[in-house]
Amino acid sequence: MEKKIKLVLDPIEVGPYVFKNRMIMSPMWTRYASVNGEVTQQLIDYYVARARSGVAMVIQESTAVDGRHVWKEPELRIDEDKFVPGLHRLVESVHNAGALVFVQLHHVGMFGTDPVAPSDVPSWGVTKFEQPRAMTLGEIEEARDLFIEAAYRAMEAGYDGVELHGSTSYLLQQFSSPHTNRRTDKYGGSIERRATLAREIIQGIREKCGSGFPVGYTTVPDEHLPDGIKLEEAIALMKILQREGIVYVHFLPGTYETLHYEQGRGTCMRQKRGQFDFSKAFKDALNIKVFARTMAQNDPFVWEEAFEKGEADAVVIGRAMLCDHDFPKKILEARIDDIRQCIRCNYCYESGVSKKFLLACSINPELGKEREYAIAGKVSHPKKVLVVGGGPGGLEAARVATLRGHKVTLMEKESELGGTMVTASLPIGKEEMKTFIEWQAHQCKKAGITIKCNREVTPKVVKKVKPDVIIVATGATPLIPKIPGVDRPHVVTAENVLKGIANVGKRVIIVGGRGQTGVETADFIVEKGLAKSVTIMTRSSVLAAEMNPTNRAYLMQVVWPKLGVKVVTHMDIVEITDNGVIAMDRQWQKHRFEADTVVLARGYTANRALYEALKGQVPELHAIGDCVKPRTVKDAVHEGAYIARQI
Ligand SMILES: Cc1cc2nc3c(=O)[nH]c(=O)nc-3n(C[C@H](O)[C@H](O)[C@H](O)COP(=O)(O)OP(=O)(O)OC[C@H]3O[C@@H](n4cnc5c(N)ncnc54)[C@H](O)[C@@H]3O)c2cc1C
Ligand SMILES: Cc1cc2nc3c(=O)[nH]c(=O)nc-3n(C[C@H](O)[C@H](O)[C@H](O)COP(=O)(O)O)c2cc1C
Ligand code: SF4
Repeated sequence: MEKKIKLVLDPIEVGPYVFKNRMIMSPMWTRYASVNGEVTQQLIDYYVARARSGVAMVIQESTAVDGRHVWKEPELRIDEDKFVPGLHRLVESVHNAGALVFVQLHHVGMFGTDPVAPSDVPSWGVTKFEQPRAMTLGEIEEARDLFIEAAYRAMEAGYDGVELHGSTSYLLQQFSSPHTNRRTDKYGGSIERRATLAREIIQGIREKCGSGFPVGYTTVPDEHLPDGIKLEEAIALMKILQREGIVYVHFLPGTYETLHYEQGRGTCMRQKRGQFDFSKAFKDALNIKVFARTMAQNDPFVWEEAFEKGEADAVVIGRAMLCDHDFPKKILEARIDDIRQCIRCNYCYESGVSKKFLLACSINPELGKEREYAIAGKVSHPKKVLVVGGGPGGLEAARVATLRGHKVTLMEKESELGGTMVTASLPIGKEEMKTFIEWQAHQCKKAGITIKCNREVTPKVVKKVKPDVIIVATGATPLIPKIPGVDRPHVVTAENVLKGIANVGKRVIIVGGRGQTGVETADFIVEKGLAKSVTIMTRSSVLAAEMNPTNRAYLMQVVWPKLGVKVVTHMDIVEITDNGVIAMDRQWQKHRFEADTVVLARGYTANRALYEALKGQVPELHAIGDCVKPRTVKDAVHEGAYIARQI
């Protein structure tokens, strides 16, 4: 019998509202605010695209109640009346698009521009230790009043309600946690006292805005710290806030210090999906509505089952709505195959945290460019386009060019599509990277693109096809360093180990740990028990410095200590011998390391030969992705999306 989605689509009552279904958009900072923290057209377009897709409610990203305490600038602000007109425009637009909108009120506490906290307990942020200053009584009262004033402004701007940000390690979590709150005044001590600040804020909002203006709360169910909040206390906190009149709760586990935990807040590729276990515990204890953040659990049939079992009242959907703004719509229309599923790469998180960029998605170039990238209609003069290479870059270029009305043929020299992304999906926990290739292939087929596999493009082929435009997306191949001994039989590439083409012996040395391939191959070998010992050797000082921080934290803090991968930094291989390698340290000292297999993971070289050969031979020639310079899926897909909109 075909499974049916029913409860997901059923209305529910939340405070004074009837939600049209049980899908809510999760709060996610974007950095689309202006440098001063005002609403921009880009931000409105982003929210409208998602509201239009059919969610019952949008929870607007963390929005600062105090402009002196923001996390990363620019952060959207609501701490002065001058922000109200822009916020009103945003609210009006989301309402017109058919969704309710709550704003998440945020004070960053110790992780912001002026680190303050209930006590001066230092804590690990994403990239460094923060030493906060303990807030004075006057500062706490000021913060409380700023939350209340912000809620009033939200009401004036037309929001349907506010949500207090009591998770993600920020100020309200810092107050509720025994780990960060060591105060001895009325704001510290038992959970009742640690709840004082949140209680006073809610009471103040009710006094100023009236009891008809609803307040929600996002909390931490377990900090995973020995002296942090545990589930029992988290529930006790919510019982207290329920008495104060909050209408719903949802939650995010962990802290920045415990980013790597299995059910932490980083939600990297290997972490546990979903949080219906937490939501069930809250539902059993509370009378208010309990929502579950999806935490990478994006299967509507799993939600349906959870609703049926009474484990949650609604789901709060995050990244799935970044990589496909029509995710809810496709569920409503039962077009599950058309959903561009999140691959959990966490580039969206990285773009704003370790990099200083705007929110972006590696596989959805339209994110943040909803207006600019909308495909309005077909081109008036369709061109004959040849795309060379069926990796993620080539497939995206082919898909978009076809949607714009061009006649596209894609040729791929291998028997299957996907290029290096097929290899990229082989390391442990990365299987879902393949879903993107499957989605691209499905969309290209639906669009009617002629795809020819087992077809290597050469200048001769191009002469025969006579395209108006060529988009070269030929990717890259593993770099083989020219060191003595590199051609010995026990030297293999990381790619071949992952593909199962090359076997490894008992003792393995991986050469190259700066990028993620070496690190992931080491993990693959130890997890699968392919060798007895694995050593990664890198000439740099940090391993996989460019790897996504949440994925990196999980691998290094959870997996490796268990499996015993050895790391040697500041060491450059100078020769591969019969039984190992000779390497030189920063003091010009040579060292011998024994190994049965040497695995090369020294990066990639761009396949530029075809592009160079075609220069001047065709009317229009473009190169995208790794064949320009070996980088990432994001670069390949975004360049494909861009070029296809230019031709
Ligand atoms: C182990 C590993 C892990 C990785 N992990 C990640 C990750 O986690 N995140 C991330 O963003 N990136 C990751 N990458 C990198 C990512 O896979 C690449 O950046 C991306 O696939 C590049 O896409 P592309 O379309 O430019 O090229 P490719 O994916 O390399 O595709 C190029 C295609 O062109 C075809 N081709 C070449 N020449 C011709 C020709 N003459 N005629 C026809 N076809 C031709 C090739 O067969 C290939 O299918 C990883 C790579 C590896 C190896
Ligand atoms: C880029 C990004 C920004 C986020 N910003 C916020 C935020 O402002 N407030 C918040 O409570 N959670 C924030 N989160 C957490 C998400 O809302 C969501 O709960 C989390 O990513 C896990 O669920 P998912 O798998 O559905 O994305 C953010 C997550 C990401 C990836
Ligand atoms: S960047 Fe990666 S994790 Fe983030 S939404 Fe896109 S696919 Fe998902």
